[in-house]
Amino acid sequence: MAKTEETRSLLATLPGRYYVDPDVFEAEQTRIFARDWFCVARASDFATAGSFQTFDVGGENLIIVGGADRQIRAFFNVCRHRGSRICNEAEGRVSRTFQCPYHVWSYGLDGSLVGAPNMAMMPDLEVAERGLLSVHAREWLGYVWVCLAHDAPEFESSVMQQVTERFGDPKTIDRYGLDKLEVGRRIEYEVRGNWKLVVENFMECYHCANLHPELVAVLPEFRRGFPTQHKVGYGAAFGQDIKGFTYDGREGFKPLDGLAVEQDRHYYGMTVVPQLVINLVPDHAIVHRIFPVAVDQTVVRCDWLFAPEVVHGDYDLGPSIELFHRVNTQDFAAVERVQPSMGSRAYRDGGVYVPAEHHIAAFNQWVRDRLDEPE
Ligand code: FES
Ligand SMILES: [Fe+2]
Repeated sequence: MAKTEETRSLLATLPGRYYVDPDVFEAEQTRIFARDWFCVARASDFATAGSFQTFDVGGENLIIVGGADRQIRAFFNVCRHRGSRICNEAEGRVSRTFQCPYHVWSYGLDGSLVGAPNMAMMPDLEVAERGLLSVHAREWLGYVWVCLAHDAPEFESSVMQQVTERFGDPKTIDRYGLDKLEVGRRIEYEVRGNWKLVVENFMECYHCANLHPELVAVLPEFRRGFPTQHKVGYGAAFGQDIKGFTYDGREGFKPLDGLAVEQDRHYYGMTVVPQLVINLVPDHAIVHRIFPVAVDQTVVRCDWLFAPEVVHGDYDLGPSIELFHRVNTQDFAAVERVQPSMGSRAYRDGGVYVPAEHHIAAFNQWVRDRLDEPE
């Protein structure tokens, strides 16, 4: 009897070319990352007016900057005179203005053009029309989200809804108060692999027993290979003798204020498609921002967020950070072992997803649908 799609235990992955073809990468930039909301930066990094960071998003380079009015704004890093890149640093602070390094046009923190040499000789310069071009920017969960599209998709239905569907209740994530937590540590990982391999790896736990000895010691049910993402509202319980979400199960910190009973001694993970991973444990959160750099190159910026009193107190964050740092290192090494095979003739038609990985096929279909959308 022929198996239907619903009854098959094995589902097809994407063909290998989706991970090695620069044309696919370009199409993803324009049809996914330049259209959707993108979680780009931690909002608290911009608390001081003039603090800025630059990022590549959707094929563009953006300046994210904190204003004197505490508003965080995002601009194309492109001078409106003759196009020079204005900021070449990844991060920094300006006092009041950005100055273009070419002919020194200067722009305020709100993007407005505030000066240019010989400005008095340009009576037809419409200052209000020559400010930096902005992109949509907003905050959620303590992060800055940007969208390059002229008409941004509705944030609630495209981003927040994913979180609600994962947890079954929008209040679940609010209880962790991610916007009130502080960054205890940030590690940037350069991964020699396609961004989708990174996302797909985070979505499944079929590899956990093999690759993550420390993680499955803390969360024994992960040995069975099913991630917490596969069931609405589900969290993985700590093992009986485990005292905290640390690399050796030793005690961590006091649970965050306001958590529900079922959130204590449990781990919840989720992927916000296309480029954010959120991991929640009772005393901290681990948030991965995934930045596609090239078809075979991805940067992952991972923040460990703790209660302010833990970050500023006399505590050793090391054992907590070490657990997911090991997980990250183990995961990214796996991705880097997969990437070289993606261009192989042996993988031209792709591979298969086993039942514990079936939900990844929906992500792949989402990517295909986006690439098939008209320009
Ligand atoms: S290109 Fe920026 S001032 Fe000329
Ligand atoms: Fe993993």
